[in-house]
Amino acid sequence: MAYMQKTPVLKVEKLNKIYKNGESTLQVLKEVDLTIYQGEFTFIIGASGSGKSSLLQIMGGLDKANSGLVDVCGQDLSCMTDESLAAFRRKNMGFVFQFFNLLENLNAIENVALPLMLDGVSWKEASDKAKKLLVEFGLQERLHHYPYQLSGGQMQRVAVCRAIVAKPSLLLADEPTGNLDSKSARDLLSLFRKLSNEDGQTIVMVTHDMSLIDMGHRVIDIKDGQIEDDRRVEKG
Ligand SMILES: Nc1ncnc2c1ncn2[C@@H]1O[C@H](COP(=O)(O)OP(=O)(O)O)[C@@H](O)[C@H]1O
Ligand SMILES: [Mg+2]
Repeated sequence: MAYMQKTPVLKVEKLNKIYKNGESTLQVLKEVDLTIYQGEFTFIIGASGSGKSSLLQIMGGLDKANSGLVDVCGQDLSCMTDESLAAFRRKNMGFVFQFFNLLENLNAIENVALPLMLDGVSWKEASDKAKKLLVEFGLQERLHHYPYQLSGGQMQRVAVCRAIVAKPSLLLADEPTGNLDSKSARDLLSLFRKLSNEDGQTIVMVTHDMSLIDMGHRVIDIKDGQIEDDRRVEKG
């Protein structure tokens, strides 16, 4: 199976993140080492405030560490200028967030097509790809709907389509089920599972919902900014 291949997609070494607030400092990540391989569907779990979002943001180049290495597809993110990092992110990484972050004045097709348009793809090609993906995700009846006309589960599926339309090497998701009912949450996770098992999509997802973690391949437990446990999920 795809996730058994050992090609690293993401490498993090001796990562430290410190927040300074006036006199006080808070070290939220402490010497974190981690390698994520191609095709893996990995959960990052841990208590609120343990550093999960900080880690994901730094992995995705949305925030910078104080020290340490972040390597995505063989590229050291710290060597990049802001512009080259933004372009690298658009090409190699997709993001999904708890609050969907769809553009309210764009319909489903337009939301999904946008990242391709930003990379210079024509509207014809971008909208064709967007439509195809939305249909694959069961949204054929919702192509021209605006976010306010969609349920939470539908909005999140549109957001996932937008995140993967440019075929990123890495899909990063921070509590993507945080605003979904349990049925929509499991439906979304089934899509993630299918993406990783059938398309070899590498996925890292932060969650505190322990009822979901049997859907993935690997679970990394963060406590006080350190990896406390890193295990493979047993398949029944
Ligand atoms: N921009 C920031 N400035 C100061 N402290 C922050 C900032 N972002 C997060 N923190 C603190 O860092 C710790 C880890 O936060 P976070 O990574 O969001 O944890 P989690 O996602 O696991 O809940 C928390 O104590 C949080 O309050
Ligand atoms: Mg968080």
